[in-house]
Amino acid sequence: MGIQAACVLAAGKGTRMHSAKPKVLQTVLGEPMVRYVLHALEEHFAGNIWLVTGHGAEAVQKSVLSFAPDAHFVLQREQLGTGHALACALPALKEAGVDRVLVINGDIPLVGRKVLADFLAGCADTDLAFATITLPDPGAYGRIVRKDGHLLGIVEAKDYEISRYGAPSGEVNAGLYSLKLALCEELLPLIGNANKSGEYYITDLVGLALERGYTVKGVVCGNNTALLGVNSPLELAEAEAMLQKSVNSALLASGVLLHAPQTVRISPFAEIEPGADITGPCEITGHSRVCADARIMTSCVVRDSVVEGGAEIRPFSHLENAIVHAEALVGPYARLRPGAELGCRSHVGNFVELKKTQLGEGAKANHLTYLGDAVIGSGTNIGAGTITCNYDGRHKFQTHIGANAFIGSNTAMVAPVRVGDNALIGAGSIITKDVPDNELAIARARQKNLGARRNLGTDGEKK
Ligand code: UD1
Ligand code: CA
Repeated sequence: MGIQAACVLAAGKGTRMHSAKPKVLQTVLGEPMVRYVLHALEEHFAGNIWLVTGHGAEAVQKSVLSFAPDAHFVLQREQLGTGHALACALPALKEAGVDRVLVINGDIPLVGRKVLADFLAGCADTDLAFATITLPDPGAYGRIVRKDGHLLGIVEAKDYEISRYGAPSGEVNAGLYSLKLALCEELLPLIGNANKSGEYYITDLVGLALERGYTVKGVVCGNNTALLGVNSPLELAEAEAMLQKSVNSALLASGVLLHAPQTVRISPFAEIEPGADITGPCEITGHSRVCADARIMTSCVVRDSVVEGGAEIRPFSHLENAIVHAEALVGPYARLRPGAELGCRSHVGNFVELKKTQLGEGAKANHLTYLGDAVIGSGTNIGAGTITCNYDGRHKFQTHIGANAFIGSNTAMVAPVRVGDNALIGAGSIITKDVPDNELAIARARQKNLGARRNLGTDGEKK
């Protein structure tokens, strides 16, 4: 038996989105739509997933490779329709020894593994199968035409004439197909574009296959919201609201505390442990992990970050690719950029920014500070207004600060530089040389008191 592959159609412009961004990269709860499709496919098709890209191909490939490094790509240079898109993938599929392909539109973000498994189970013994759903309003979907219970074909909304096909039943094409490759090879070249859109429709395969006596089946997937296509900002917002509701309901049921859950946006790829306490509005996306007894307070954005138990992320803080260990306190108004790692019981306060910086256990940087490319030992106190000057305009350099050091307020440390354990730096210093363990360093102009003020000019010189 040959290989079963999946082919995601993701080359379209997404004109109805009115955005330059390729449609499949529009996000739902912080993740591009196409990521959801690939996640659903992985279970059955890992290693055998092809994507047809075209509009914004580079951006789509880059994004997809970031979460599906083994995906394959084919290019559809001109977007001439879904049938043409599949035709573009055919040579690559054939060469890979594929004998049956699951084709799916890239704009079905709510598709889950369950509905896919149901569809696959319904496809057995067919040459061509497609999923159908029934909607109160068939809208812009392709309509399924049946007569006396017999399938006749799929007619696109624009081409549907009631006089010819009768009133639409509400049964529509969901954009999910299972096709024998031999059938594609025979029938794709026969598809024309003499229709209202001037496009080559994949849906025309159905009528052609029926005419030639192939086994064709519309697999009814009920009134299934999991297969709704997203073509417009309104449909995107609706899909996102549905997913948000189902993610949050599942989290609440598992024992996560959500305050104002309607305003909490959590990606289904994030891991939230029962006992975590989250207040909206807030956003937790990417591969974030929030542990039991961690608190995320209002107006925070947490992306691809870990927050351990007992840690508190106070309001208006922003975390990306950061790790906050147990019982650390962050914010309000803190910014943890990629590579920030906060030790247990450390504190990062208001208007403090960390990037590629480890802050040791119990260390504190409570006010108005930038720490970049730094390693800071446990118990160290970083005074208000401290800056690690990590960039000379060309290169980045590291700052090392030992344990139990005290960095006075408004200190600038010009990297590369090392400050030893237990060292003390006077406020306002500009540190350009290493400070050994246990030493006091002051690097600022000495204060001069120059006598009574009335005798002085504005430049401080005596008149
Ligand atoms: C399509 C179906 C319609 C179905 C609906 C389900 C066709 C002709 N119509 O309509 O029957 O009810 O999906 O959601 O297939 N794409 C390409 N290359 C192209 C054109 C499109 O890769 O040249 C991709 C798009 O990026 C998208 C997918 O194919 O992911 C579907 O295209 P779209 O324009 O959204 O089709 P619909 O009008 O929604
Ligand atoms: Ca669509």
